[in-house]
Amino acid sequence: MSGMKNQASQVVSLNRLPVRQLRLLKQIGRLADERGMSVYLVGGVVRDLLLKRENWDLDLTVEKDGIAFAKLVADRYGAGLAVFERFATARLVFPDGLKIDIATTRRESYAQPALLPTVRLASIEEDLSRRDFTINAMAVQLNSGQFGRLLDPYGGQRDLRARTIRVLHKGSFQDDPTRIFRAIRFEQRFGFHLERTTLRLLAQAASTNLIQQLSGPRLQNEILLLLAERDPARAISRLAQLKLLRFLHNRLGYTPTVKRTVTAVPEAVAWWVRRFQGSVIDRPIVYLMALSSESSPAVVATMIRRLSLSREQAKRVGSGGCRVDRVLKKLTDQGIVRPSQAYRLLEGFSDEALVLFLAKQLGRQQGVGLRLLQRRLTAYMKNRTMKTSLTGRDLQAMGLQPGPQYKTILEKLLDACIDGVVTTEAEERAFVRKWLS
Ligand code: CTP
Repeated sequence: MSGMKNQASQVVSLNRLPVRQLRLLKQIGRLADERGMSVYLVGGVVRDLLLKRENWDLDLTVEKDGIAFAKLVADRYGAGLAVFERFATARLVFPDGLKIDIATTRRESYAQPALLPTVRLASIEEDLSRRDFTINAMAVQLNSGQFGRLLDPYGGQRDLRARTIRVLHKGSFQDDPTRIFRAIRFEQRFGFHLERTTLRLLAQAASTNLIQQLSGPRLQNEILLLLAERDPARAISRLAQLKLLRFLHNRLGYTPTVKRTVTAVPEAVAWWVRRFQGSVIDRPIVYLMALSSESSPAVVATMIRRLSLSREQAKRVGSGGCRVDRVLKKLTDQGIVRPSQAYRLLEGFSDEALVLFLAKQLGRQQGVGLRLLQRRLTAYMKNRTMKTSLTGRDLQAMGLQPGPQYKTILEKLLDACIDGVVTTEAEERAFVRKWLS
């Protein structure tokens, strides 16, 4: 590529990388020298080195045959190797757990928009030219004589300085509509802006049905990555502004209420993990629930299908929606709610839904309702591990005919335990007897 040849070579310092990674990259560069191969660090890690941001996801690319080179490295260092022939890539896992992805420099042609491309081998310059944005289309050579040499044929550094997201060519979003979401992800993460033509091309691509053609798993991946960013609320606003939420469901509105709930998610999650240490919350899923928190169960169900959520994710998200409101109303009511009533109201909701309860309430008002809710959630988390001493077998031994009433009795008994009405096994027996008579 002529632009490349005109460039004075510039050297990037890799000293920001942890010593282990840096040493390995130097060794890999020397190994490539021995084999007469060229090897480069590419993509996000180069961008982040220049931005002085931490990112130790090492993506390498090798001219001609990345897989053969990966095998060589694996042999030399006793690393585990997984090969993905179709994409001409390999993943190495070193004995100490360090992971490196190695690809072969390639060109991609898109037989059809929005589908995965077919792959042909190419030079490093061509490899960079197929990439999404200028800031992601830089490489750093690792061969020992050239260690640290920056390849930046599309003005990636210029755009980093100008804080700009810019595509390399007009058809970029058509080739790969996931880039629409990636553009927003990077824009919001770095506080950059979309370059004018890029924004126009994005809006144009978004106004067609290209995104509809994306498979569920690919759309899901982009959406969950976006929602996994540090502050997804801004990215969600941007999605709404660019009318992109309709690709999750065309009736998904970003109303002021939804926005307040979404904005309250960080505080809700923070309270939750502080209070229930050790509990793991799937934060992107909470955001997805917040986003659909005013939607009907039918809309939520369709969104779940569109995103091909796993059964586990679907269960969590499915327990959200506007159903939550009915329960929330009772839980924030100052009238008497016995602990067992709260337990029965909340059982079956995922932890993510419980965090959503909080976010909703935080988004509405602070006040008494919030304190009541927090108290009841705390009690519920304790009560849900409670068990009765008596089991079905005990009921049988007490002379009760097996049948559906077992479930009812054991539920009543558990409620009594939760409410502190019975506290010992003897009291449990007495409770059952009394209930039977
Ligand atoms: N890439 C691309 N088009 C895509 C996805 C990826 O051109 N749709 C290229 C970019 O050069 C990108 C690299 O592949 O930098 C690696 O992709 P990925 O790991 O998804 O992105 P990162 O840039 O590393 O972003 P992050 O920091 O979010 O991991």
